[in-house]
Amino acid sequence: MNGLTLSNAKVVVELGPGTGVFTEELLNLIGPKTQLLIIEINASFYKLLKEKIQDPRVTLVNGSAADIGFYLKKMNVKDADVIISSIPLAVLPTRLRNRVVLSARHALRSKGKYIQFQYSLQSQKMLGKVFSSVQIKHCLLNIPPAFIYSCIKE
Ligand SMILES: C[S@@+](CC[C@H](N)C(=O)[O-])C[C@H]1O[C@@H](n2cnc3c(N)ncnc32)[C@H](O)[C@@H]1O
Repeated sequence: MNGLTLSNAKVVVELGPGTGVFTEELLNLIGPKTQLLIIEINASFYKLLKEKIQDPRVTLVNGSAADIGFYLKKMNVKDADVIISSIPLAVLPTRLRNRVVLSARHALRSKGKYIQFQYSLQSQKMLGKVFSSVQIKHCLLNIPPAFIYSCIKE
């Protein structure tokens, strides 16, 4: 995840952290004053993370990534600088996929960044319609190799 300007970010959002592998790295990269909102839909992963993460910068919720705006509002936060998602967009029903990505776009500040981890190029067209620019990197070091989409809001 190097190269992201996370240390200066006011608000970062992580969607679908699972067991928290990326979360641990994110906590090392964000600044001391950065707020990190983490949204996980699976109750078991949520419980695991609740026990594992004791960091005052973190707001962890058991909910849907389609509701980012709702959770930011509860934190009294207007928008996010960076959103990082491991949500398996390609296997979501189309309606939910659209809701998640549009909710992310809406929650980002102007020029904010949406980073999406995926195992295929299936989401390229859809993300290209929602964000003003999309760059893709193939990360062979990940197991299995993953695509990292870096999207910018206009
Ligand atoms: C591929 S896993 C994440 C793997 C994670 N990076 C790790 O290393 O453990 C995808 C995660 O997205 C979560 N997820 C799926 N749909 C979601 C949604 N609509 N809102 C929030 N989380 C969701 C799943 O419960 C799962 O934990």
